Amino acid sequence: MQELKVLSVEEKLNLDIPRISKEVLGAEFQKKVYLESYGCQMNFADSEVVTSILINHGYGTTSNINEADAILLNTCAIRDNAELKIRNRLKGFTELKKKNPSLTIGILGCMAERLKIKLIEEEKLVDLVAGPDSYRDIPNLLSKLEFEEKAINVFLSKEETYGDIEPVRLHSNGVTAFVSIMRGCDNMCSFCVVPFTRGRERSRDTASILHECNTLFNQGYREVTLLGQNVDSYKYTSEENSEVINFASLLEQVALLNPLLRVRFSTSHPKDITDEVLFVMSRYSNICKNIHLPAQSGSNRILKLMNRTYTREWYLDRINSIRTILGPDCGISHDMIAGFCTENEADHQDTLSLMDDVVYDFGYMFTYSERPGTPAEKKFKDDIEESIKQRRLAEIIAKQRLHSGIKNNLLVGTIQRVLVEGDSKKSDAHHYGKCDSGKVVVFKKVKEQKGEYVHVRITHCTTGTLIGELESLQDGK
Ligand code: SAH
Ligand code: SF4
Ligand code: F3S
Repeated sequence: MQELKVLSVEEKLNLDIPRISKEVLGAEFQKKVYLESYGCQMNFADSEVVTSILINHGYGTTSNINEADAILLNTCAIRDNAELKIRNRLKGFTELKKKNPSLTIGILGCMAERLKIKLIEEEKLVDLVAGPDSYRDIPNLLSKLEFEEKAINVFLSKEETYGDIEPVRLHSNGVTAFVSIMRGCDNMCSFCVVPFTRGRERSRDTASILHECNTLFNQGYREVTLLGQNVDSYKYTSEENSEVINFASLLEQVALLNPLLRVRFSTSHPKDITDEVLFVMSRYSNICKNIHLPAQSGSNRILKLMNRTYTREWYLDRINSIRTILGPDCGISHDMIAGFCTENEADHQDTLSLMDDVVYDFGYMFTYSERPGTPAEKKFKDDIEESIKQRRLAEIIAKQRLHSGIKNNLLVGTIQRVLVEGDSKKSDAHHYGKCDSGKVVVFKKVKEQKGEYVHVRITHCTTGTLIGELESLQDGK
């Protein structure tokens, strides 16, 4: 059976693994675009918006890079290695460009926003640069390149949410989909480049979110994940009646669309997640009991330097509320950074002991990577040796692996309600899906179909996956 996934952090976060737009859409049109996407779920969701814009302007998409008229990379800037990967990819295109000088090479997303004109002027790696708020302008930028040598738009907007654009689902299993509910971030965690690459926080029109979720349900989708850098600060004022809709209210409205539509969300900021949200979660069985609550560190001193604006005690109080309101089975995951500026062994031990206090189901764990222009880069020295960062990260990962094993083992013998998402990656005799708390469940196929809810008896597990047998089809049938 497969060994998944605690160690495979980057893979789960998809930060370093590109996704290529597979479909050939609008192939009857002349100009074909090859789009490759890196980074977080929000970036993948953006690529679906970009594809929609391209198709609406007469472009086709292709998965064959050799037949493309334009190659676009939708990029991430969160850590140095994410950017390194994209630079190497861009360098690899120089041969293609030599063979076909009219080929356009473009960069979208967070690295485009961070580096702006630099990649065109200094490094001559690309012809087109479009930041996260200028995707409506891409068709115009592409046609500009027929007459000019470069095209760039990196304006950040205070309003753009792409709320009216129906994304073209690129990598879909037809069952689960991501829905962006807001853009940008106002938090200024000192280590983080996102406020600079994605701009100010803004929330998408509630009606357009509900419309998108409803359309997805009618198309057969059974799970939506509401996406934002900080979903708990969602706030939209209705134009009709000036009613202010917060995240708790949005979540409730999405849950009410249909009891067969599961709802998840990511990411919650510990300073903002309210009991109101937790109570809404407890009231609706179709809101999955699964919370991603990045801690980043267990040391109050480091949390302060990170400008996370909460303490360890505050964080543990939120965990306590989650356990009290939603019960012990709610899945809780984290992000943790090892080796932030000035972090000493005592701080590191605080992180490990926080993990012991919470016993997370899952985690995304990183070493600190200094990002140019961030408050941490300006104010502090990146003074922890790489080997120490790596050793601390390994300790954090080892602990998480242990905890994930403990958490998964607790579910052996239970019956879990699973939404069938498709064939298991390792065997087409098996289906996979997720249980309510977000863990991957693999089980032998009987006659259930993708998109159906089934009950699975968990028989054993690895640190990353629950393995089981079908107990009953479609909720008891
Ligand atoms: N908005 C989310 C996280 C977005 S970035 C939140 O606030 O939790 C995803 C994760 O990348 C962060 O939670 C953090 O753990 C990690 N990260 C961000 N900047 C980083 C950096 N400079 N070095 C290492 N990890 C970083
Ligand atoms: Fe970055 Fe902090 Fe905003 Fe998350 S909340 S995107 S870590 S600044
Ligand atoms: Fe990367 Fe931008 Fe997402 S920096 S993690 S693609 S918001």
